[in-house]
Amino acid sequence: MDLDMFDLTGKTAMVTGATRGLGEVEAIALAKAGADVAVCGRVESDLKRVSGAIKALGRDSEGFFMEVTSKESIHEGVDKILDHFGRVDILVNNTGTNYRVPVLEYPEDKWDLVISTNLKSYYLVAQAVVPQMVERNSGKVINISSILGQIALVNQLAYGSAKGGVNEMTRIMALEWAKNQINVNAIAPNYFETEMVKQIFKDPERLKFIKERTPMGRWGKLPEFEGIVIFLASAASDFITGQIICIDGGWTAC
Ligand SMILES: NC(=O)c1ccc[n+]([C@@H]2O[C@H](COP(=O)([O-])OP(=O)(O)OC[C@H]3O[C@@H](n4cnc5c(N)ncnc54)[C@H](OP(=O)(O)O)[C@@H]3O)[C@@H](O)[C@H]2O)c1
Repeated sequence: MDLDMFDLTGKTAMVTGATRGLGEVEAIALAKAGADVAVCGRVESDLKRVSGAIKALGRDSEGFFMEVTSKESIHEGVDKILDHFGRVDILVNNTGTNYRVPVLEYPEDKWDLVISTNLKSYYLVAQAVVPQMVERNSGKVINISSILGQIALVNQLAYGSAKGGVNEMTRIMALEWAKNQINVNAIAPNYFETEMVKQIFKDPERLKFIKERTPMGRWGKLPEFEGIVIFLASAASDFITGQIICIDGGWTAC
């Protein structure tokens, strides 16, 4: 086997919500594998920090402001990315947010925010980026889902609904773009310690619950996210499309 199939040299990747957490890990992993990376987010200092770390690896990188709940902001950002890099070969739809209360208390504005950030933006960003992949008959789209797209937990109304939607969206995109040799897959993580779940990591009861539910008896370590992202972005996964790949220590195998 030729390990060059994992090499992303000469490719341009774009990661939304890349200013911290898993998005930052994904952006840096893609750069480690050789890609130039457009870092998308909202906080100027974080955009500079992450793109700076990627430049230090010897790749081209810039930060681009992108508010994914705004179609206008998405298109402005993508236009700037295409001006700078000329193309996007790898799109990672990663933005996410959560609001956890029971169904009967769920406010409509929070539903709209969670659905817009975690689900609607994934198709809007793809609409802006994928046409140039279709023209080239080549591309990789990676949607970040969650194990909550296929298992249910209380207080996860909008988030679970969004992630279930991301899984179905992934399969539909994969079917529509298969003829263009564009791979569309989703990654569905268990818990990883990031800003989004920091409250959970301070709660001994929740941590006990996660450990008990996870056959490997622990949560994910951030560097453990790198391999799957590189694999799905690379030629090593060229015949894999429409799949939801869990990175969950075995939770969804139960
Ligand atoms: N961590 C976990 O345990 C876990 C488990 C399963 C799935 N996931 C999924 O993994 C992805 C990354 O999550 P994470 O844990 O790394 O979360 P995080 O640390 O909270 O990071 C979320 C990222 O999304 C950006 N973002 C949020 N709302 C945005 C908006 N409206 N417009 C533009 N950017 C926005 C944030 O930027 P700002 O700094 O501007 O807010 C940040 O860069 C999400 O899709 C999440 O659902 C995470």
